Amino acid sequence: MKSRRDFLQQISAAALSAGIVPRGLTWGFRSTAPPPSPPTQSVPFPGDAGTILRSYRFVDMETPVEYFNTWLTPVSHFFVRNHMYEPSELDAHTWRLSVGGEVEKPLTLSLGELSGLETHSVVNTLECAGNGRGLQRPQVPGVQWGKGAVSTARFSGARLRDILQRAGVKATGKHVMFRGLDEVPGKVPPFIRSIPIEKALDADTLVATHMNGSPLTKHHGFPARALVPGWIGAASCKWLTEIKVLETEFAGNFMNPGYRFPNQPGKPGEPVKPEDMHVLTALNVKSVISGPGDGASLRTDRVTVHGAAWAGEADIAKVEISTDGGASWSPTKLSHEQAHYAWRLWSYDWKAAQVGDYTILSRATDSQGRVQPAEAVWNPSGYLYNAYDQVKIHVA
Ligand code: MTE
Repeated sequence: MKSRRDFLQQISAAALSAGIVPRGLTWGFRSTAPPPSPPTQSVPFPGDAGTILRSYRFVDMETPVEYFNTWLTPVSHFFVRNHMYEPSELDAHTWRLSVGGEVEKPLTLSLGELSGLETHSVVNTLECAGNGRGLQRPQVPGVQWGKGAVSTARFSGARLRDILQRAGVKATGKHVMFRGLDEVPGKVPPFIRSIPIEKALDADTLVATHMNGSPLTKHHGFPARALVPGWIGAASCKWLTEIKVLETEFAGNFMNPGYRFPNQPGKPGEPVKPEDMHVLTALNVKSVISGPGDGASLRTDRVTVHGAAWAGEADIAKVEISTDGGASWSPTKLSHEQAHYAWRLWSYDWKAAQVGDYTILSRATDSQGRVQPAEAVWNPSGYLYNAYDQVKIHVA
C-alpha cells in the first residue's frame, strides 16, 4: 500500500513531467495567447509521436488507428478532446474537490484525502461522442474526427459512490454534476455536465487519479477526473474540482443543446426539433479495422485483418468481416483480453482468392443484440457514428 507522501511525490513528479508548475513559477505557454508554432516541451504533445492534431487552439488529438493494436493504449497515444483551454496552473498541493448540493454534509477533499479512499480500477474504452464525425454525409460542423477519438486505458481512483456516501446524498439528490477547471474563453459556457444518480452510484464510476498505473497527465485531467465507464467521453469531466448533487439534470450548454441525439432517425441533412432529441449516455456498438491500412498495396494473398470493437455498457459478442461488399460475413477471432467496458481486439487470417482490389468491411454485434449498421444514424452534430468500418486494399 503506498503512503500518502509517496502518492504526492508521484503526483508532483507527474506534474513536472506534464509541464505543470507550482503557482508563482513562469508558465511558458499562456492560455490567453497561444504561440503560433507547436509548443515546446512545457506542454508535451503526443502528436510528436504520431498522434493526429485536429485542433491546436483547444488541444484535440486523435489516435491513428494503427495504435489500436494493444489492448491498453499508451498514454502518449491516447486521444485528447478539449472544449476550451486546459488549466494553465494546477497544483497538486492546493487542489481541492468540493462536494455539495443535495447532501447532508458538504465536504472538501485534498488529493491526499482522495488517495486515502479505497482504490478501484476499471479498464474503459473512452470514446468521444463526435468520433467519426468527419465520415458523416452530409457533413456536419464540429471537429472533423476520423476514426481515432477513442482509446482504452486502465483508470484507477476512488469510487464516486464512496465520496457521495461520505457526504450523504439526500433523497432529493437525483443527478450529479461535475465542473472542471478549464479556462473558459470569452463567452463560451463552462464545461459542466451531470449524470443520473444511479450511474454516479455504480461501483465502477470513479474519480480517477491514475491512467495505466501512472498519475493522470495534464491532457487527461490531472490531478483527478470523473470516469463514467461505457458512456460518451463528455461524461468524464477532466480537472475535476466540484461535484454537486442536484434535484434535476443540469441544464447547461453541454447537456442541451450539446450532446443530444434524435429520438427517431430522420432524413440525412434535415434539422431535428430540440424536443425530438434526448441527452446522450452510453456508447454504441462499433468496430474499426486497424490493419491493413486503407489504401495498402500488399504483395501477398495472405492478410491478417485486425482491429478493435467496443459497445459501451454492453460486451462484444462477435466481430465479422466481409470481403465481398457485405454479401457474406466471416467471424473473426476475439483476443483473450477483456473487461466489461473495454474494447476487444480481433483478427482474421484471410487468403485473397485472386489478385485485385478489395474492400474489407467489419461489423460488430454486442451482448444486447445490437449490430453495427451499414449506415450510421445521421444527426445534426454527427454523434455516435458507427457505420461498418471499411478499408480498400490492393492484393498484388
Ligand atoms: N472535461 C473538461 N473539464 N473539459 C473538456 O473539454 N472534454 C470531454 C471530457 N471531459 C472535456 C472534459 C470530452 S468531449 C471527452 S471525449 C473526454 O473528456 C476526452 O478525454 P481525454 O481528453 O482524456 O481523452
